[in-house]
Amino acid sequence: MFSPISDPASRLDAEFEGRSPWPSPSASGTVIPLTRSQVAALIKRARREGISRRDLMKIFAVGGLGAVFAACERPPPPSSSSASELGVADVPWVKNPEPFIQHPTNLETRLELLDGVITPNELFFVRNHAPTPRIDVSEYRLHVSGAAIDQAVELTLDDLRDLPSQSVVAYLECGGNWRGFWGSIVGRAAAGGQWGTGGISCAEWRGPTLASVLALAGVRSSAVDVDLIGLDEGGFSRPMPIARALDPTTLLAHTMNGVDLPPDHGFPLRGVVPGWVGSSSVKWLGRIVVSSEKIWSRNNLTSYVLVGEDWPADEYAPADGGPINAGVVKSALALPRPAELPAGSNSIAGFAYSPSGPVQRVEWSADDGTTWQAARILDPVLPHAWQRFQFEWDAPAGSHTLLTRATDAAGQSQPDQIAYNSKGYLLNIVLPHPVTVS
Ligand code: MTE
Repeated sequence: MFSPISDPASRLDAEFEGRSPWPSPSASGTVIPLTRSQVAALIKRARREGISRRDLMKIFAVGGLGAVFAACERPPPPSSSSASELGVADVPWVKNPEPFIQHPTNLETRLELLDGVITPNELFFVRNHAPTPRIDVSEYRLHVSGAAIDQAVELTLDDLRDLPSQSVVAYLECGGNWRGFWGSIVGRAAAGGQWGTGGISCAEWRGPTLASVLALAGVRSSAVDVDLIGLDEGGFSRPMPIARALDPTTLLAHTMNGVDLPPDHGFPLRGVVPGWVGSSSVKWLGRIVVSSEKIWSRNNLTSYVLVGEDWPADEYAPADGGPINAGVVKSALALPRPAELPAGSNSIAGFAYSPSGPVQRVEWSADDGTTWQAARILDPVLPHAWQRFQFEWDAPAGSHTLLTRATDAAGQSQPDQIAYNSKGYLLNIVLPHPVTVS
């Protein structure tokens, strides 16, 4: 998909100055001739998205203009099957935003509204980089192509529904969930959407495995990476190594909690990659590219990478920092922040989760971690789901802080502190939860 470029910086400059409106690869691999004004609009949009010239050059050098379009999030329509031509909502989402903590383009789940392992679709968090596209099923096709397949294929939704399907109960968590606590608790703010604890939810997903769909196209032994590309504006894309794509838990889901995927969650088809950060689970899936070389896109070059003193950029070039794939072990209380409780006996619930299978132990403390007690882990305990836990607290009147600490099957526990990364991913410290008891 991305062709090598000999002198990326000068070509980028030329294109960006509008001196040479070269034809450029679109997200679909066809050629889009750029006019001077389109180039200017692209630069402007990149600046609005907070992308520096340096970042833009890097994205261009590695991925060509297709990747620059993706980085800018709201480019001109990249192909004739783009979401914009099918109609894009005026607001970022379709569902009723009222039950959520609302962010500019995202809806954060209020964990206190949940009482089981499954998050009802109407309470499931939404993370959109562009408005939810409305996709016409009669026009919909999933395209599978790339240098490392035998035969490109095109599948309708009916074709996909006719394939044998698997179901998995899996949580999805945004890599930036808890980002707001870098500022409010760690004391060193991180850039990006300031999530609390609700950039996560858990559903039962159903659909064919990604491996079974790739098998229809015939995967060659040379395959290295598989890129999933969405039909939203900008064509959100997240490559993964072939081994993860062929993992039997990696699904292409058409069904969420027993019904067709709702528009905000990727209708008619999305990737579901249990245990990996939510960005891997590409919604509104329109295209799969299987390549014989490493694929770079915004979402593994400049976004969803660990940038900070502990991740020297030259070790990870051309990416800006360390890669993010699997999530980390965490726990959070199903209480508002701050919480208000009556004095006396209170039954407190929360959610604990890890990419390494079910959490083995959750402990809680009401005395700043001097003493810890075991919380009960409630059934059902499922391999890729989060676990609900509960404990009784005889709460004295006053201001308190509750702490919880999860330990997973691999023996990993939530730490007291972690290394800072400027984009604020994967925060999983033991999180203080403020509670007023009256
Ligand atoms: N897929 C597309 N096409 N566009 C997106 O903006 N966001 C990703 C991922 N898949 C995204 C996407 C991110 S960052 C997350 S955390 C999850 O979708 C969120 O899934 P949800 O909105 O169904 O909760």
